[in-house]
Amino acid sequence: MFKPALMVSFVGVVVSLFATTIDCQSSNDDFALNARAAPIPRSYMVEIADGHDIESFYGSLQAKNIEFSPSLNITYSLFNGASFDLSTNDADTTHTIAGLPTVKGLWPVRSLQVHEPLADDSVEPWHSVYKRRAPDGTSFPSNQTESNGFSPHVMTQVDKLHAKGITGKGVKVAVIDTGVDYRHPALGGCFGPGCLVSYGYDWFGLLGEDSDPFDECNGHGTHVAGIIAAQPNPLGFVGAAPGVTIGAYKALTCFGSGREDVLVAAFNKAFDDGSDIISFSGSIPFGWNEHPLSVTVQRIVEKGVPCITSAGNTGSDGLWTLGSPGAGKGVASVANVINAETPSIHTVASYSVSGSSESPQFTWNAGNPAIPTISMPLWASSNDSSVEDDACSPLPPDTPDLSKYVVLVRDSDLPASEFSTCRMMNKISNLVERGAEYMIVYSTNQHTQIIDDSLLRWIAGIGMVSASQGEEWVKLLNQGRNITLNFESPTTAKQVIYSPKNSKNGSLLAPRSSWGLSWELDVKPQFSAPGQDILSTWRTAKGSYKIDSGTSMSTPLVTAIYALLAEARGTTDPVTLENLLSATAKPIKWYDGSEVHDDLAPVPQQGSGLVQAYDAAFATTLLNVSSLAFNDSDHFVGSTSFKITNLGTQDVTYEFGHVAAATVYASAGSYIPDLAAFSLATFPLETPIGSATLALPSAIRVAAGSSAVVPVVPTPPAGLDAGRVPVYSGFITINGTNGDSLVLPYAGVASSMRSLPVLSRNPEWTKIRYWNDVFSPAVPANTTFTVPFPTGRPNEDLLPDLELPLPCAMFTRNLGSALLRMDIVPLEVDGELNTTEVLGIKIAGSAERYPLRWFPGRGATEDSFTGMLADGRVVPEGRYQFVMRALKIFGDPDKVEDYDVRWLPPFVLRYRK
Ligand SMILES: *[C@@H]1O[C@H](CO)[C@@H](O)[C@H](O)[C@H]1NC(C)=O
Ligand SMILES: *[C@@H]1O[C@H](CO)[C@@H](O)[C@H](O)[C@H]1NC(C)=O
Ligand SMILES: *[C@@H]1O[C@H](CO)[C@@H](O)[C@H](O)[C@H]1NC(C)=O
Ligand SMILES: *[C@@H]1O[C@H](CO)[C@@H](O)[C@H](O)[C@H]1NC(C)=O
Ligand SMILES: *[C@@H]1O[C@H](CO)[C@@H](O)[C@H](O)[C@H]1NC(C)=O
Ligand SMILES: *[C@@H]1O[C@H](CO)[C@@H](O)[C@H](O)[C@H]1NC(C)=O
Ligand SMILES: *[C@@H]1O[C@H](CO)[C@@H](O)[C@H](O)[C@H]1NC(C)=O
Repeated sequence: MFKPALMVSFVGVVVSLFATTIDCQSSNDDFALNARAAPIPRSYMVEIADGHDIESFYGSLQAKNIEFSPSLNITYSLFNGASFDLSTNDADTTHTIAGLPTVKGLWPVRSLQVHEPLADDSVEPWHSVYKRRAPDGTSFPSNQTESNGFSPHVMTQVDKLHAKGITGKGVKVAVIDTGVDYRHPALGGCFGPGCLVSYGYDWFGLLGEDSDPFDECNGHGTHVAGIIAAQPNPLGFVGAAPGVTIGAYKALTCFGSGREDVLVAAFNKAFDDGSDIISFSGSIPFGWNEHPLSVTVQRIVEKGVPCITSAGNTGSDGLWTLGSPGAGKGVASVANVINAETPSIHTVASYSVSGSSESPQFTWNAGNPAIPTISMPLWASSNDSSVEDDACSPLPPDTPDLSKYVVLVRDSDLPASEFSTCRMMNKISNLVERGAEYMIVYSTNQHTQIIDDSLLRWIAGIGMVSASQGEEWVKLLNQGRNITLNFESPTTAKQVIYSPKNSKNGSLLAPRSSWGLSWELDVKPQFSAPGQDILSTWRTAKGSYKIDSGTSMSTPLVTAIYALLAEARGTTDPVTLENLLSATAKPIKWYDGSEVHDDLAPVPQQGSGLVQAYDAAFATTLLNVSSLAFNDSDHFVGSTSFKITNLGTQDVTYEFGHVAAATVYASAGSYIPDLAAFSLATFPLETPIGSATLALPSAIRVAAGSSAVVPVVPTPPAGLDAGRVPVYSGFITINGTNGDSLVLPYAGVASSMRSLPVLSRNPEWTKIRYWNDVFSPAVPANTTFTVPFPTGRPNEDLLPDLELPLPCAMFTRNLGSALLRMDIVPLEVDGELNTTEVLGIKIAGSAERYPLRWFPGRGATEDSFTGMLADGRVVPEGRYQFVMRALKIFGDPDKVEDYDVRWLPPFVLRYRK
């Protein structure tokens, strides 16, 4: 069990995410990525060999005089292991441990930033609400109920299953997240047997580990749980599978961060507790199958429990941004579609007009800070309700003292360039100058938002009303009427949902949804679901409801659909359900962030498309795969097949067709013959013309209850620039005479992955600099670094010493690498040094912590060298050179030619006397 003392170290880890995870003090873009998955110094996790247990493992450490402190017991039916902290960090010790007969596998434990950190106490729940699209005012106050169509459910046919009474009854769904606010009336109001949230566990409670997974500080898990199973509530929506019971596994901290060992434990405990489906709205940027979290999740899937996880929200970086464990084979990875409607939560208030005894209601969208309970007269900064530049300039001298009013200000739909000359921030500051404290914005502008939090302390409350409401008030004021607005704080007032259609980009893929494929070209993600602009439950202490966005929201919707399918079809078999959902999904058109194209969106972005729960529940045609991977040009799958099964009672003839999706170039420049031109392109990717062709039978008749094998012979697209790494994809279409209309997505790369440079050739990003100076440029060759004699203290502990002029090596990765080496090569040394030859190069040894496994792509790797090698030896003074070697995709770790090698300029190492 974690004791309170250990919790302190967890908090320390979280804080350290932002201070000490990379050795060189870094200012580069990769900081965030590195921070999202950083090894915790001296912390390791083992899987214990068969026939041994934790006691015999720890006994074997003691027998070798290895000092350690136990951290977590990870003893479950599918994983027998433990995590622990060593007192030293040298490779000798870890090699010794890895070689013990009690050990099956050993990994460093990484801390993981799974969700955006949320400084909860400073954030009001309405904060994000204010950023939503402004209401157009067509029907206020409005309401959104299940019966008149909760759009995420309409988009995915969940409403049609609810209409048939299918709600996921009796299915046990585990949610691995930040816990669940089970006191929420829409989440059952209680915890334990008989409650909606009926089981679970907590690794990060205020007092350490316990069995109470209450979401006391974040809210993310509460949102996820509501998407799955919210019960009827005043806002008029329900979860997609309100008949399930939920197991809440609080395996993330208040900051949305976690540890690999805890996540491995959480998945395993959720499995051992008898969960039928496991949902994890998380994505950790590895993209590899082989790290322990992916291994754990794959084992659970192989035992018949579907695990549904997020693709991630880093699609703006382009291809190969999809995270683990969703990259694992058999694990369902979910992309994010923009809601067809843009809901916002409105608070009901009233106003009175002089000369009238009525007090009509209006609804407003609370900003941050929200307007509290007040009753004040209204003053408009312009008498023209079509003004384009309201309050963009300082207000005239005859302006009254605005502290006595709620100020009405217009935000118009200016084009971006003009918009930037007068933002909300400028308006607010002009109004504040005249004493304004409370503001109400009327707007047709989709981008209206509070831009600068630093202004917020100057205002006491802000909100937004519809354009038509604002216009009406301006008209009344112009008639000389006095208007008083009566606000009630959103924490107590009645709230309603306003949910206009999103005609701009509703039902398209969210541009920030992460892209597959996996590094080894498995087809990822599997499918898409609405995740952008999703209403769900939130912590009761923070407003109870919230609209949130990301694959964190599309994932639980798919999880809930698995539960509906489990009830409808009587199986939770992960392979069957994934194949059904994939085959019945509807491919979506390519949206480049501003325009919608006729082509379909690439499979690496959408998987098979938008899931269709009803079609999947009642399809009588089954495919034996969910996608076809044609791989790259070295491993091209020139001929393949799939099986089609007719479960119906009639013979069916299936017609086969092919629709290509947009092909995309992964690289910004052509790496043939100039490797320096290779770098992964960002969204929106260039879409060259050219797609694969497929040879397929035109039709096959399949007798009732039998199967047929359908051969597929693909030809990759011709005429494309292989040097820019074309990623092609599309859909085999299958129409049955029984009415089933199915798709089978495929994807491949028309280039050789092994020939791609993993490490950047850009000298700006491949250099040596002084560790203690983030901004120092590359130092010239043969620069002398005079450093303290290394003590073996981990570099992290040395960070506060800003005087340390250690040599810092910086390399930049384009692609992921299964094995990354940073070795120290001696040139001339003043003393005795044993060298070894590794892959054809004579080295003194590796830098501390190297070699590293399963490295994500993109961004800089920076490491300083103290003079101490990974095995704890200290090199003598002398002239050295760093060599970085990254195993190429599909490379053989024993082959020299399968590494991408970058040498840095030589440097001279001296020790302070
Ligand atoms: C972990 O395992 C060890 C060895 O079996 C045992 O002594 C210890 O109590 C366990 N800790 C927990 C929290 O179960
Ligand atoms: C909202 O929907 C609920 C449930 O259908 C209904 O009782 C209520 O009257 C509606 N409110 C408004 C303002 O339409
Ligand atoms: C609006 O204000 C302008 C300038 O102060 C004034 O000239 C105009 O008559 C006003 N219009 C109305 C409708 O009150
Ligand atoms: C509006 O309020 C002002 C100030 O309180 C008052 O002088 C004026 O008579 C009011 N006008 C109307 C139409 O009630
Ligand atoms: C299958 O049906 C869809 C829509 O019903 C149609 O667009 C497609 O062309 C059909 N495919 C074949 C092979 O007939
Ligand atoms: C670095 O020093 C070595 C040995 O003194 C010398 O041969 C080499 O030319 C120097 N390199 C540069 C770039 O000055
Ligand atoms: C080099 O290796 C030899 C043989 O293992 C050993 O005796 C010697 O101490 C080593 N020297 C250094 C400087 O590590």
